[in-house]
Amino acid sequence: MQIFKVKRSEPMQVEITVPGDKSVSHRAVMLASIADGDTVIQNFLPGEDCISTINAMRDMGVSIEGPFENNDVIVHGAGKYGLKDPQSVLNLGNSGTSMRLLAGLLAGHGVNVILEGDASLMSRPMRRVVEPLTHMGAQIACAETGCAPIIIQRTKQQLTGMHFNSSVASAQVKSAILLAGLYAEGDTSVTEPVLTRDHTERMLEAFGYPIIRDGKCVTLTGGGRLTGTTIQVPADISSAAFFLVAAAMTPDAEMIIKDVGINPARIGVINILWEMGAQITIENTRDVGNEPVADLHVIGRNLRGIQIPLQHIPLAIDEFPAIFIAAACATGTTVLRGAHELRLKESDRIQAMAKGLAELGVVVEPQDDGIIIHGGDLHGGTVDSHGDHRIAMAFAIAGWAARGTITILNCENVATSFPNFVEIAKFCKLDISVE
Ligand code: S3P
Repeated sequence: MQIFKVKRSEPMQVEITVPGDKSVSHRAVMLASIADGDTVIQNFLPGEDCISTINAMRDMGVSIEGPFENNDVIVHGAGKYGLKDPQSVLNLGNSGTSMRLLAGLLAGHGVNVILEGDASLMSRPMRRVVEPLTHMGAQIACAETGCAPIIIQRTKQQLTGMHFNSSVASAQVKSAILLAGLYAEGDTSVTEPVLTRDHTERMLEAFGYPIIRDGKCVTLTGGGRLTGTTIQVPADISSAAFFLVAAAMTPDAEMIIKDVGINPARIGVINILWEMGAQITIENTRDVGNEPVADLHVIGRNLRGIQIPLQHIPLAIDEFPAIFIAAACATGTTVLRGAHELRLKESDRIQAMAKGLAELGVVVEPQDDGIIIHGGDLHGGTVDSHGDHRIAMAFAIAGWAARGTITILNCENVATSFPNFVEIAKFCKLDISVE
């Protein structure tokens, strides 16, 4: 078991870059694999989750070089129908994005595949993709519990396009259906309750595949092909979030985080920190490939508790563990409701964070769909990340605020999304050791 120990740390004055975006890296490998021709992916995230996607594609016969030392990956596209039956089950480790997006991509491809993962992934809900894909004519099933394994069988008939009204704000569900739609007859469209990250849509366009957007509805027509290209992956705002929060809540800190992807559906953490009184400026905004990128300039100060506005929730869905640390250190009470999805992530993030914060002396009131956090002092203690990378990193940044040593158990999965987290944390003067 990997254990992090963090101690009260000095305010940082640093400029950093964090690794490539996880969501974008997954999608780049998937689309490049079914494209015609070669794709160069620059600044690919070499985290375990994205390596699971690379390995799955390799197991289905795609030739992929890298990740090289500079984090380039070269994918020799197998073409739209070029994937082969893998020799064995595809094990996707901890990666929900790999599992749900591949379920969609493979549903109409004409392969026999079984998708599995680690204990966390095998307990996450999969019916949300299996049901709509079945509706399109896919031969796909999951366990009776609604969880993986997902079993996909070659269909005799082509999938049929459909219009799907999604009840859950999930980019993974939207993406799974759109990717299946590439193989369907006619139009496939998805309407979301709230706009979620649109990396799939942007990347389909980058691979030359037309899509139509109309408000919260996105439509594509099956039958087209994708053309290999060059994809530059922006730095991951979900990884940047840990340091963004750490600097924002630490008086006398100053930090610049370079080249961060600021896709409008990903910037909830910035909006929420602004509402809490944080001093963050978005500088040097530009487009990299089909995604907006900027440098984030943060000056630390005391934050205040807030009622988190509902519209920010889907845009900050992965950042709540870090935001809860900001709330725990803020003056006043922070209230989050309408966020039941947090219970369905790599761990039950409401429970895991509530338990850990309580261990550190914070008064918390967990709710079925959120949490109430009464800001105050954090003392030292031992917390369990439950094998959830983002819980581990969230408690690590509490080292800038806690009065005693925090021991964080089960931190090995930090490598799924942020392999050099500890190195960057040390560079930022966090007193962190790994056992
Ligand atoms: C992701 C979508 C989100 C997010 C996950 C990555 C994606 O999941 O939590 O880390 O890449 O599409 P949901 O679609 O389940 O909200």
